[in-house]
Amino acid sequence: MNDQSTRARTTADWQALDAAHFLHPFTDFDALAKKGARVITRAEGIYLWDSDGHRIFDAMSGLWCVNVGYGQRSLIDAATRQLHELPFYNAFFQTATPPAIELAELLAEVTPPQFRHVFFAGSGSEGNDTIVRMVRRYWDLLGEPERQVIVSRRNAYHGSTMAGASLGGMAAMHAQGGLPIPGIVHIEQPFWREHGQGMTRDEFGLVAAGWLEDMIQRVGPDKVAAFIGEPVQGAGGVIVPPATYWPEIQRICDKYGILLVSDEVITGFGRTGHWFGCEAMGARPDLMTFAKGVTSGYIPLGGVMVGERVARVLIERGGEFNHGYTYSGHPVACAVGLANIRLVQQLGLVEHVRDVVGPQLARAYAELAQHPLVGEAETCGMMGALQLVKDKARGTAFPSELEVGMVCRGHCFREGLIMRAVGDRMIVAPPLVTTPAQLDEMVALIRRCLDLTLHDVGSRGWLA
Ligand SMILES: Cc1ncc(COP(=O)(O)O)c(C=O)c1O
Repeated sequence: MNDQSTRARTTADWQALDAAHFLHPFTDFDALAKKGARVITRAEGIYLWDSDGHRIFDAMSGLWCVNVGYGQRSLIDAATRQLHELPFYNAFFQTATPPAIELAELLAEVTPPQFRHVFFAGSGSEGNDTIVRMVRRYWDLLGEPERQVIVSRRNAYHGSTMAGASLGGMAAMHAQGGLPIPGIVHIEQPFWREHGQGMTRDEFGLVAAGWLEDMIQRVGPDKVAAFIGEPVQGAGGVIVPPATYWPEIQRICDKYGILLVSDEVITGFGRTGHWFGCEAMGARPDLMTFAKGVTSGYIPLGGVMVGERVARVLIERGGEFNHGYTYSGHPVACAVGLANIRLVQQLGLVEHVRDVVGPQLARAYAELAQHPLVGEAETCGMMGALQLVKDKARGTAFPSELEVGMVCRGHCFREGLIMRAVGDRMIVAPPLVTTPAQLDEMVALIRRCLDLTLHDVGSRGWLA
């Protein structure tokens, strides 16, 4: 850092420096440089403050991760202690550190019973890269090396590395960098509103799961290695599948003997009102990716929970698994992960979501569904989506080029609320520590922003 302290810089200073040097993720660099970044300088509980001193309700938990809220002493102390004690040592070459060993034990305790082993990574994307290599290695070891193909879904998000973005089903990501890599195929997502016309949700859930079986038949059952999905699609727009979907996916995976992978990067550690989203959805995965909520985002950490079916093969027949990261099992990250999971347990956050704020959010969203701009409102635990529509009676969408979601998002920022826009779908994932009174505050802010957006699009003539 140069001699000018953080406090001495103005917002304009920060923006100029940012534009000069910092290429942001998922950002139009030139457009941001012209506009200037929003600079967040501190946070406490569920609130952020920007460099102009405005307080903002963080209804996205940072980026779906700050589940325990900002400023938790026990996480800060755990990191500080570990930094003094042993800031780094690797887990290669037959070594280990106490925090990594203890976190592995605690993860085995809080995850479903089929999980007793973990492979650590630095992020969700690295976790999913690990999944691709591990799944293929598993089938190699079983003498079925031709089983290479992993089935995923369109509009899924599994990260931004080559394998993560390939597993993901985001067309805009595939359009850059020659993706997907070979051996990854996609079926349509279980989005009832888009693909389930004329069917009940439950009927559609079975149809959408059936697309997996169709794909297995098309690729050849002896070539399919695994299916991967987010229990609830997060970045795709908080798309909650019908209740029939995951049990049917499980049945199909069992029928063909293919591995089931649950990407729990968002849905892990209580977000759905269960420890893991697969438990909410009635699936029994062989592998789970995690990141974000494992440390509540205080420090990067991710990984893969390896079910006994896969672990036994890797351990007993595997020899060396030629895969790993410098920061696999980073002691400071693992110390924070331990403190974070213990805090989730002490505060009873999974139960708080299941019994208190999750149902409260569902009730509030059922009321927001009456708003003239809202065509559909959905929640799952502490995740919510509002689909903005032009004509409520007919459910007609706005032309996408109007970017009504971005208009709404602009009002949210001005009113001190972070609510994300995925097209015209407005999504939230508030911290799990949010109290009932704070949730009321969030819903009141959302309602106000919807009213402002309605007035705004009306005066632009977009409702005609
Ligand atoms: C379901 C899911 N998987 C993987 C990732 C990638 O995680 P990371 O950004 O930590 O690499 C994300 C990120 O949002 C995610 O939502």
